[in-house]
Amino acid sequence: MARRILLDCDPGHDDAVAILLALASPAELELIGISVVGGNVKLDATVLNTRKLLSLAARDDIDVYAGCPRPMLREIVTAEHVHGDTGLDSGSGRELPDPLRPVADKHAVNFIIDSVRNAAAGEITLVATGPLTNIAVAFAMAPDIIERLQELVIMGGAGFEPGNVTPAAEFNIYVDPHAARAVFESSVKLTMFGLDITHQMLITPPRLKAIEEHGGRVGAVVADLLDFFNRYDIGKYGWDGAPLHDPCTIAWLIDPTLFEGRLMHVVVDTSEGPSLGRTVTDWFGAGEEEPNVMVMTSGDADRFFALITDRLSQLD
Ligand code: RIB
Ligand code: CA
Repeated sequence: MARRILLDCDPGHDDAVAILLALASPAELELIGISVVGGNVKLDATVLNTRKLLSLAARDDIDVYAGCPRPMLREIVTAEHVHGDTGLDSGSGRELPDPLRPVADKHAVNFIIDSVRNAAAGEITLVATGPLTNIAVAFAMAPDIIERLQELVIMGGAGFEPGNVTPAAEFNIYVDPHAARAVFESSVKLTMFGLDITHQMLITPPRLKAIEEHGGRVGAVVADLLDFFNRYDIGKYGWDGAPLHDPCTIAWLIDPTLFEGRLMHVVVDTSEGPSLGRTVTDWFGAGEEEPNVMVMTSGDADRFFALITDRLSQLD
């Protein structure tokens, strides 16, 4: 029986691969719908990108729901310098196909609430790969859904790794630290793929070549997108590839043996200043607080990329 999931995201190149990986894995995952948030680029662009990706995958059966265009308290911070002006710039300059269907009328937060309430308790898994604004607003509007969820799996935060948007903070948490704090303190069953694990999943030249050559029609387009996505992080970190953050969440739901983690206490720092948005992670149980997050710490990068390549080839 496939696990029923909702995906909340801000495409963004790595969100794009997460969406396509989920669509390519019907035996393991039933993607009920996609909710979108402002993040890597503004909401109108993240919504359009999501709709274009569904057109690329020839999936006109999946609804896209527009959510919050900005964080709960702060002004939005975007990342066009990483993802390009469209949010999905490609190495070749080629654009994705036009969308097949309009965005759904319902607000993303109401989609999340209604989907969880209409399903059996414990049936829905929520995956979030962007700022957590939609999730926090849904939890505030409908606290009953927190316990009804099977679990929430996010890409965000960093335990030992430095931040990628400030020295202390990872982008998704930093954009909306107040939403993140509300979610981390909500009692939801939470698994966190932070920079500690995603910085091990680098899009090296052999892995990019494999996606291009063995990922089928969609893989060739993804390789063109990732060719662009690689540029900023290779320049910033000097690594031989950018970290492919968001698909870690989906790959783990497909094959839990790909990654390992440990329950730890994590709190989000919302104090104004250099630590704003830091996920303060109690790796060695130094504090008194009970663990509240499964923090993923290690994984098999070769198997991760092999899974992505194989599944993308099945989208033809
Ligand atoms: O820090 C990386 C995260 O921020 C990824 O989810 C990326 O898509 C951006 O949303
Ligand atoms: Ca993202």
